[in-house]
Amino acid sequence: MKVSFASGNRHKLRELRSLLPDWEIETLEDGAMPEETGSTFYENALAKARHGREAGAPGLWVIGEDSGLEVEGLGGRPGIRSARYAGPKASDEDNVARLLGELAGAEGEARRARYVSELVLLSPEGELRGTGTLEGRIAREARGSEGFGYDPVFVPEGEERTVAELGDDWKRKRSHRARAARALREAVGGSGAEL
Ligand code: IMP
Repeated sequence: MKVSFASGNRHKLRELRSLLPDWEIETLEDGAMPEETGSTFYENALAKARHGREAGAPGLWVIGEDSGLEVEGLGGRPGIRSARYAGPKASDEDNVARLLGELAGAEGEARRARYVSELVLLSPEGELRGTGTLEGRIAREARGSEGFGYDPVFVPEGEERTVAELGDDWKRKRSHRARAARALREAVGGSGAEL
């Protein structure tokens, strides 16, 4: 059975394929995504999956994903606005620069942060869900070249290096998306659905 991933983010697609290697994950032809109008990661993930289901073939299984970074000293921002924190067309570098600028004087607890990934799978039988988080802190400067988004400034709990330094293998085992993918796989198993 093929599963479609309703996302235009090639980094996420690559990660999801390596996290769920036995699921045949394709992107939808229609790469246009709905505006993210939800107030939670879950609502946005569900909206993406629904959009994907409407754009795809009937009976198709579709995954929607929404994720982001919550920073303690910023009251949980950038949160659901992580992708466009520095503006509607912001690059990863722009977003990281804004984040580091806002945290310039921040110490200790204020630099604590968490990545969140919410996966929603819509099948003909209904909706299944997997959530994953990764705790850490925001570094003082960007380091490393792997991953994407805020990875060059995110240092996971118990580590000294950023996710961009720790690399893809580390991410495959420990990231918020890895945890969400495991939870989703368990939910699919528990539901008796056959993929
Ligand atoms: P979305 O497409 O609205 O879910 O955007 C998620 C945004 O959150 C990305 O553009 C990144 O800025 C950030 N983000 C989510 N997951 C990760 C990750 O694994 N590493 C780094 N940044 C991430």
